[in-house]
Amino acid sequence: MNVTKLELTNFRNYKKLKLDDFKKINIIIGPNGVGKTSIIESIYVCSLARSFKSNDDYVILKNGESFSKIKLELNNNLKNIKLEYTLTEAGKKTKINSTLKKRISDFISQYKVILFSPDELRIIKESPNTRRNYLNISLSQINKSYIKLLNNYNVLIRNKNDYLKKMYINSNMDSTYLDILDKKIAEFGSEICKIRSEYIDKLNKYIKKIFKRFKKDDEVSIRYDSQFSLKNEEEIIKLLKKTRNNELSLGLSKTGIHRDDIVFLHNGNNSKEFSSEGIQKLILLSLKMAELEVLINDYYEEPILLLDDLFSELDIVNQNSILNNLNKNIQVFITTTDINNVKKSMLRNAKVIDLGERVV
Ligand SMILES: Nc1ncnc2c1ncn2[C@@H]1O[C@H](COP(=O)(O)OP(=O)(O)OP(=O)(O)O)[C@@H](O)[C@H]1O
Ligand SMILES: [Mg+2]
Repeated sequence: MNVTKLELTNFRNYKKLKLDDFKKINIIIGPNGVGKTSIIESIYVCSLARSFKSNDDYVILKNGESFSKIKLELNNNLKNIKLEYTLTEAGKKTKINSTLKKRISDFISQYKVILFSPDELRIIKESPNTRRNYLNISLSQINKSYIKLLNNYNVLIRNKNDYLKKMYINSNMDSTYLDILDKKIAEFGSEICKIRSEYIDKLNKYIKKIFKRFKKDDEVSIRYDSQFSLKNEEEIIKLLKKTRNNELSLGLSKTGIHRDDIVFLHNGNNSKEFSSEGIQKLILLSLKMAELEVLINDYYEEPILLLDDLFSELDIVNQNSILNNLNKNIQVFITTTDINNVKKSMLRNAKVIDLGERVV
């Protein structure tokens, strides 16, 4: 899958931007604040109908404008696809080949994206919630039923929390409703746990080897921490019964896959506390490259790789190692402030988008 054309209207700092003639390797160069990340972001938004910079859809809307539009064309040898994503005060409007898509779910994932950006370091550094979000976004790209399962599960947890709160105030209330909810939580929760666990197993098949390209003596792997791990539905129901009193005393549901976490292990230590900034960046990059391998090898996809601000904080050896190991069949967009970061041999085969000091 290759992006062949991109047209932005009122997107971030761009009033109008038209780009085409992309190659497999595309390098976006320019000084700070010129709009490099915005281009990467627009390619991400057209795939997932959301930004990676904020949960607020409207941040992409150019200040003072009433709508924002991304037109993107794709080619995968067999066919051309034209995508259109428009954001107005009335919400999102999406089209595939000029046909309006009523549901966003029918628009997303026409092509897969793998994003690496310094912002994404929060996956390692921040709370379990950030890591669960990361897992959810990755899995939603490869498993259509996952999002449905997760939404159903979240409704159950919301209902359970409401009821636990009521029981917290009035302990004489009947708990049969909680039993019904727990049964469903066990059913959906075990399914989600299985999908997450299988995905992490797949990532682990690659991440260790990929990281060794950077530091051959170091070991990196991902551990999945879930209260539901290796339990069948019956065992989960038992666990929920066991923790019921605790949940009642808090008025809050504390048991389930909504408390899951993943830990990045670096030589057996939690890299969040153990690894240096540069190493955390390499672990994140290895994770993204592992994701790419899973998509290619297990799902026969050809994702588009978005590498934002790839070179900062990395030494020259690691920078070259990344560039030398890029999969030749995958289209990649790389942003950098300094053309000297990119090897001459790579520049010869790349499209260079020099934003210079352009006025937009
Ligand atoms: N909604 C918006 N409307 C108008 N301008 C915006 C909006 N959102 C962001 N900007 C501006 O767009 C510019 C481009 O931001 P972007 O993050 O793409 O820059 P960049 O080239 O990646 O810079 P850096 O090298 O610092 O990462 C910034 O100057 C920012 O202030
Ligand atoms: Mg940037």
